Amino acid sequence: MSIKNDKAVLDEIESITLDHYEKNAESFWLGTRDHDVSQNIEAFLQALPEDKPLDILDFGCGPGRDIHTFKALGHRPVGLDGSKAFCKMAYEYSGCITLHQQFLKLDLKKDSFDGIYANASLFHIPSQELPRVLAELHRALRPGGILFSSNPRGNAEGWQGERYGHYMELEISAAYLQQSGFKIIHHYYRPDGKPCDQQPWLAIVSEALSSSC
Ligand SMILES: C[S@@+](CC[C@H](N)C(=O)[O-])C[C@H]1O[C@@H](n2cnc3c(N)ncnc32)[C@H](O)[C@@H]1O
Repeated sequence: MSIKNDKAVLDEIESITLDHYEKNAESFWLGTRDHDVSQNIEAFLQALPEDKPLDILDFGCGPGRDIHTFKALGHRPVGLDGSKAFCKMAYEYSGCITLHQQFLKLDLKKDSFDGIYANASLFHIPSQELPRVLAELHRALRPGGILFSSNPRGNAEGWQGERYGHYMELEISAAYLQQSGFKIIHHYYRPDGKPCDQQPWLAIVSEALSSSC
């Protein structure tokens, strides 16, 4: 595949996936606004300093359920999403800045955040682009910053209806994270308390190691 075609394929992956969210923004909000993700928020915040308001990027913030929570807890969250409808909804719901950016075309400042929270979002990044995007998130974190991710588990990549996904188990996820300068400090499967084959989600808390250059 030529680089030109490769870029066209990646553009198509982003635009079809984002169109799906854009078209279904209201129903997505109704279906997810009451999801209990307190275990994820606690696991993320427990890895960060407790005594100060934190600069948090909610990567793929959707309609803003979690930036609203981070703000209510006294932090300074910023949302990021490629869906215009979600950016608007998240801003209206939380009052927080929401960046309209696509995962494959990020424009984030170096050392901007104490933590990046990626709930159900990183799996939308095609495998060939994941190292680059993780390196950009690493760069946007302050030294010792924390990346939280929660993704559906599996060993597959491709389309599920109109959404593109890359599904990984722990070993593969860990290899990508380590390659991009992260050290895993904690992981768990969700929902809590179920047998492993009934836990479709893998949550990982990792620390951005300082780069040598
Ligand atoms: C499964 S939803 C999760 C939303 C939210 N974090 C939550 O937990 O409800 C995935 C989110 O990633 C966003 N997204 C998917 N692909 C994207 C891309 N290429 N660039 C930017 N945002 C993207 C979608 O718009 C959507 O908000």
